[in-house]
Amino acid sequence: MSWTEDLLEKLTHRGELAGLLDSLHTRLADLEEKRHEYALRCEAAEKALQDLSGRMDKMEAVLNERIGVLETDRTELFARLDESWKQLEELRERLAETESRQEDDSRMSTLEADRTELFARIDELKKEMQECSLLSIVNVAGDEEFDHRFIPLNQYFKGHGMALSMHLTSVDERLDDSVYQTADVTRTSAFALIAEEIRERKLEGSVAELGVAQGAFAEVINAHFPEKKLYLFDTFEGFPQADADFERMYDYSDPQKHWYADINVDQVLKRMRYPQNCIVRKGYFPDTAEGLEEVFCFVSIDCDLYKPIYSGLRYFYPRLVEGGCIFVHDYRSKFFRGVKLALRRFADEQGFFYSVLPDNTGTAVIIKNKQERENGHCA
Ligand SMILES: C[S@@+](CC[C@H](N)C(=O)[O-])C[C@H]1O[C@@H](n2cnc3c(N)ncnc32)[C@H](O)[C@@H]1O
Repeated sequence: MSWTEDLLEKLTHRGELAGLLDSLHTRLADLEEKRHEYALRCEAAEKALQDLSGRMDKMEAVLNERIGVLETDRTELFARLDESWKQLEELRERLAETESRQEDDSRMSTLEADRTELFARIDELKKEMQECSLLSIVNVAGDEEFDHRFIPLNQYFKGHGMALSMHLTSVDERLDDSVYQTADVTRTSAFALIAEEIRERKLEGSVAELGVAQGAFAEVINAHFPEKKLYLFDTFEGFPQADADFERMYDYSDPQKHWYADINVDQVLKRMRYPQNCIVRKGYFPDTAEGLEEVFCFVSIDCDLYKPIYSGLRYFYPRLVEGGCIFVHDYRSKFFRGVKLALRRFADEQGFFYSVLPDNTGTAVIIKNKQERENGHCA
């Protein structure tokens, strides 16, 4: 090929190349633009990424905080759950206890009811037994048969600290109601027979009690002497301090301050059948007897302590009419040991004797005999 042709060809190629170069330039410019665009987008993407990562950090922090709170809540909830569980267990136990207690209660009330019924039945049986025993006495024909029934019956009552008095032999005869209203029928029935003797002999003089308290025995005395004045001697405020101290000093007894300490005299008088006959001498005996011009046909001395008993005997014995009687209660008491000593001393000084009832704690009975006449010989 010639150089012209070669040149021409080269020129042709250069045109082509120039075209190619142009298109390459265009392409490059496009690419440049695209790169620029991508760079921008990259930048935007980077920024968005950064934003996102910042927000993610924030969200993570929020989430962590939330998780922390939830953890705490969860721990707290578990603790409360444990607590509730425990409470539930406790309630279950208490329920079981209550149920068993209810069972026990109902069993107890059944038992109580049974016991009450049994006691009532025992009481009924006791009553029936006593009625049978008493009926057997009431229906006796003769003395021999009476002994048969009376002796075992007395043994039965002895077991209960009581004794039946022999006046039941005169079964067709009933003593005054007041006799049966006291705890010591032996004493009251013996008294009733003595009172009858005094009434039948028409002895003069009043009646009295030294040591009245609530008036249980005074009531019986009053009922048996509708025509006589009844003197009631008592402090109505319990044992006098001096007499009680004296007891302790000689070891006769140990009287307590509160015994018989608060007695309502009106209540005492209310129980009397003939209250109009009663003369209350409230206060320390023998001071309360001062200036009293009286004689007596019956006196009950029931003041427990050595000093007032001795003073009582000194006061009443000289004023007792012949055939008159003094009861000294508690003569055989193991607790009030001064009673026996006071009476023995006084009786020895005066030279008389007395008898003792088989009643509760033993009542000594003094009957005033006719005074010895003409050098000690009875008329
Ligand atoms: C055992 S209680 C009398 C019980 C009464 N006889 C009855 O039937 O229930 C003894 C009483 O003697 C009284 N007493 C004791 N010493 C006394 C005294 N020196 N002067 C007055 N009363 C006295 C006491 O106040 C007490 O009320």
